Amino acid sequence: MAGRSPQDGTAAIEIEGLRKSFGALEVLRGIDITVRRGEVVCVIGPSGSGKSTLLRCVNLLEEPTSGRVRVAGTEVTDPEVDIDRVRRRIGMVFQAFNLFPHLTALGNLTIAQRRVLGRGKAEAEEVARRNLRRVGLTEKADSYPAQLSGGQQQRVAIARALSMGPELMLFDEPTSALDPELVGDVLAVMRALADEGMTMLVVTHEMSFAREVADRVIFMDGGVVVEEGPPERVVVDPSHARTRAFLARVLDPAAADVLEGSPAPESPSAPLEGPP
Ligand SMILES: Nc1ncnc2c1ncn2[C@@H]1O[C@H](COP(=O)(O)OP(=O)(O)OP(=O)(O)O)[C@@H](O)[C@H]1O
Ligand SMILES: [Mg+2]
Repeated sequence: MAGRSPQDGTAAIEIEGLRKSFGALEVLRGIDITVRRGEVVCVIGPSGSGKSTLLRCVNLLEEPTSGRVRVAGTEVTDPEVDIDRVRRRIGMVFQAFNLFPHLTALGNLTIAQRRVLGRGKAEAEEVARRNLRRVGLTEKADSYPAQLSGGQQQRVAIARALSMGPELMLFDEPTSALDPELVGDVLAVMRALADEGMTMLVVTHEMSFAREVADRVIFMDGGVVVEEGPPERVVVDPSHARTRAFLARVLDPAAADVLEGSPAPESPSAPLEGPP
């Protein structure tokens, strides 16, 4: 991407033959993805296609049923791995901000630094203030989550993740709980992070973000990668009918209204199809 520091070609995340079942339901059916250092990869796909499960397998919030996941060369699926050490290298931002309501923004940013990284108060606060500045919230250090807008809370959550000094960031629909007018500020922060060279794996429905910021877009459906490639190919000129159908639904506001008004689908979008 223009203005972005060059990727050095080293793999930050390597996913091989990843499968995950919940009981009889196979949610991930053999996923192979490599994300190189400095790369921004956006994952798109219908509800229930396994996007969140995929992200959660990367830092072992879900245990894969089979397959291998390596993060910066460390195999997280190795039973001997010190997963807490690996998780410290991975920043994760969810749709729900998960801030502590009884702590200020500053408190939310310092608590894990102190407890997990053992930083002293002064150092943790310095790091926290630096990261609040990075997300444009210098003046909100002493505000409690309830005193912040959704977009501001999500930016605090991003700053909290950054305060741990992660090597890579996972985002799971970070803007989908936000009112439309608050989405832009969060995306701007993510764009700046991408420009700084942060490795990012981002599940998103923001197609303009995917198109403008992603080096690569992966379309998932029914627990498999249907297609992947540069955004100008996958988002603008997809080769698979399933990708085209999905994009038509996401990009057509009238169809989106219908989707928003209906409850989440009961089952994965392609449960009846065989493996690809
Ligand atoms: N802990 C769980 N136990 C049982 N089933 C689960 C669990 N987590 C996810 N699933 C199922 O796995 C499938 C994929 O879920 P996942 O959350 O990964 O989808 P998604 O692509 O992130 O969807 P969305 O776009 O709605 O967030 C769904 O059918 C879901 O019901
Ligand atoms: Mg999800």
